[in-house]
Amino acid sequence: MTRPFYVTTPIYYVNGAPHIGHAYTSVAADVLARFHRLAGDDVFFLTGTDEHGQKVEQAAQAAGVAPKAFADRVSDDFRSMADAMAISYDDFIRTTEPRHIEGAQALWRKVADNDAIYLGAYEGWYALRDECFYGEDELITGPDGQKVAPTGAPVEWVKEPSYFFRLSAFQDRLLAYYEANPEFLGPHGMKREIISFVKQGLRDLSVSRTSFNWGIPVPGDEQHVMYVWFDALANYLSALDYPNTDAARMRFWPASLHLVGKDIARFHAIYWPAFLMAAGVELPQKIFANGWWTIEGQKMSKSLGNVVDPRDLVKEFGLDAVRFFLLREVPFGGDSDLSRKSLIMRNNVELANDLGNLAQRTLSLVARNCGGILPERRALTEEDTHLLGQVAVLRELMASQMDRCALTDALEDVWKVIRACNAYIDHQAPWALKKTDPERMNDVLRVLVDALRGIATMLQPFMPQSMERMLTQLGVAEEERIFAALETPLPGGRVLPAPQGIFPRYVEAADPA
Ligand code: MSP
Repeated sequence: MTRPFYVTTPIYYVNGAPHIGHAYTSVAADVLARFHRLAGDDVFFLTGTDEHGQKVEQAAQAAGVAPKAFADRVSDDFRSMADAMAISYDDFIRTTEPRHIEGAQALWRKVADNDAIYLGAYEGWYALRDECFYGEDELITGPDGQKVAPTGAPVEWVKEPSYFFRLSAFQDRLLAYYEANPEFLGPHGMKREIISFVKQGLRDLSVSRTSFNWGIPVPGDEQHVMYVWFDALANYLSALDYPNTDAARMRFWPASLHLVGKDIARFHAIYWPAFLMAAGVELPQKIFANGWWTIEGQKMSKSLGNVVDPRDLVKEFGLDAVRFFLLREVPFGGDSDLSRKSLIMRNNVELANDLGNLAQRTLSLVARNCGGILPERRALTEEDTHLLGQVAVLRELMASQMDRCALTDALEDVWKVIRACNAYIDHQAPWALKKTDPERMNDVLRVLVDALRGIATMLQPFMPQSMERMLTQLGVAEEERIFAALETPLPGGRVLPAPQGIFPRYVEAADPA
């Protein structure tokens, strides 16, 4: 029986161009989707764009383009960024699509039918940049002495008729849910913040706007458009053809994991579960928040001119070096800094040296000393068994790290084995065995090929392109690349293709070294 695995990225606002922060969550979700596919699960991986709301409307106005035409253009750019990063999404949803509008309206009706929505008037603070209502008590004093949102975003006083969602009525149920489902929110810091925010008391939430009209009409009252977060969150269901509960895609609900940035944890960990409770829909299994990237120690911002387009990094360093860096640099969940120096260092030390050289040394010895033919697997020494044992447990070890969203720990587990392989090759010195003990040389090289096969198979989700090349060089056929295939050793006697370096060292042009 294949298990369903449904993972989502946030849907990205189309008010500006895609950058490395957006690529980050998408790459992380992609690693999880690919991992589960290779593990044999039934995967659905969703990404897309969030196209309504005042922020997008204003960006379109500033560009002198109609909102839909503007959204079309920027949404295409997000899709091309996803493609450039090899994001293997199964669907790309846009909130301006009819299927989404229907889904969001159906969810609204369900919530309203269950008496969780009422008409009133909103008077209070709104931060356009965050598309978020803030209570007076949450505001802080900005650099110029004015009131700003806790995120630093400017706030404006809004007064308009509005539908409200009875969020306050869900406070106790939410707290009980967090308590009963300790794995629901992660990492711990985010969970702690959410619980303390909910404990401070929840106010009913304004869920419609009347002062502009770039949004989904509220069913039954066309004067109002839905609050962009009600609209946006519904994407996770509308992409599965909700409200058609008989649709084949509905087998993926409840979602296994919503991956989000820490700034949007509140919407996912409080509002979304409350909307679903009100609609009588099952809650997702997990919401996990990743940290934020700074660039060379500074906040990324248009005004500083340091916004990084991941496609530029890919052009310079190669796709897999960038994907690897993003997930390797800092434990997933924490904040990280992107610097050229550390990107080059990770590439040169861990990819080119630790893994690339190991593969190159092994495969060139097979080419030179074994006529390019994979030696048979024969009796193993204790050291051989020990090394291969470390490789064999990776599958289970990584699966449990993946369940915890510990993507960096999963990479560290693989690197421990890579370092063990390097110690093994140095100790066994197969190059010296050619004359003294050619049979043992064959055995050592075979053990190394098997270890590399295990490593490359398990690293495919992180670095799909280079691991594909590595597996080809190791003589692994395409249908032998799923995790379960690792149980069957490759038959000896296969002719391996001529080895070629996989991870070039990067040398700074201006660097005399
Ligand atoms: N449209 C909403 C999400 C709706 S989901 C139902 C949104 N969009 S966004 O485009 O502003 O942000 C999308 C994601 O990008 C968020 O998860 C946010 O954390 C992430 N990032 C934006 N800047 C970032 C960094 N500098 N670093 C890491 N992630 C960052 O919010």
